[in-house]
Amino acid sequence: MRKGFMLVCDGSNGAGKTTVIAGLEAHLKQRGIEVVMTREPGGTVISEKIREIILDPTTPEMTDMTELMLFGAARAQHVREKIVPALEQGKVVISDRFDAATFSFQHYARGLDLATITTINQLALGDFKPDMNLILDLDPEEGLKRVKSRGEGLDRLEDEKQQFLQRAREGYLVQAENDPQRFTVIDASQTKAQVLEQSIALLDSLIAKHFPAGVSD
Ligand SMILES: Nc1ncnc2c1ncn2[C@@H]1O[C@H](COP(=O)(O)OP(=O)(O)OP(=O)(O)O)[C@@H](O)[C@H]1O
Ligand SMILES: [Mg+2]
Repeated sequence: MRKGFMLVCDGSNGAGKTTVIAGLEAHLKQRGIEVVMTREPGGTVISEKIREIILDPTTPEMTDMTELMLFGAARAQHVREKIVPALEQGKVVISDRFDAATFSFQHYARGLDLATITTINQLALGDFKPDMNLILDLDPEEGLKRVKSRGEGLDRLEDEKQQFLQRAREGYLVQAENDPQRFTVIDASQTKAQVLEQSIALLDSLIAKHFPAGVSD
């Protein structure tokens, strides 16, 4: 039985996902709540190996369908090996990206048809759904500036055209509009402190909802 809950932090490249997640992890630890931090693609040994294949900048010849199925394979392993067991143990799971990213990037941005993507996601997830998707919404141009200022090279998916990234952004917003119970959009153009404060408020509301008897703090 699922006793914990899963919060996904998602959104445009460079929107501040990793920054927010670090703040959420610190907040949970401070409250004495056990948390499992993870990411997609990745999260398990097998899924991290698949991640390396997906993000490898030396293989631009990867077809869209290959990419989609690799994401699905990584997710199937991730959910069964790591996420569901952690939730059954009453832990909080925080993931840097999850299934909403597949809809945004592979469907809205790359144009793979929705039925195919829904099928792959269903095969990977069964009836599993995260409890909340926090979407950090930011103009991709601003996101790219942030990534560049981080001083690392761009991976295969970050090095995409701006138009593509704009469509992915719209994909997140459409999903949020269609499922307001499971999506919360935060304006990521705000300062780090503002974004984190709003993200922590969301996390605290999830804690109150899922642990009504309280936590040991
Ligand atoms: N609200 C903010 N305002 C200004 N800069 C920010 C903000 N949030 C994060 N940054 C900075 O922008 C850069 C990208 O942030 P971060 O790595 O958290 O984004 P990300 O969404 O995880 O990126 P990626 O998609 O590459 O994983 C970092 O240098 C970070 O310090
Ligand atoms: Mg990141």
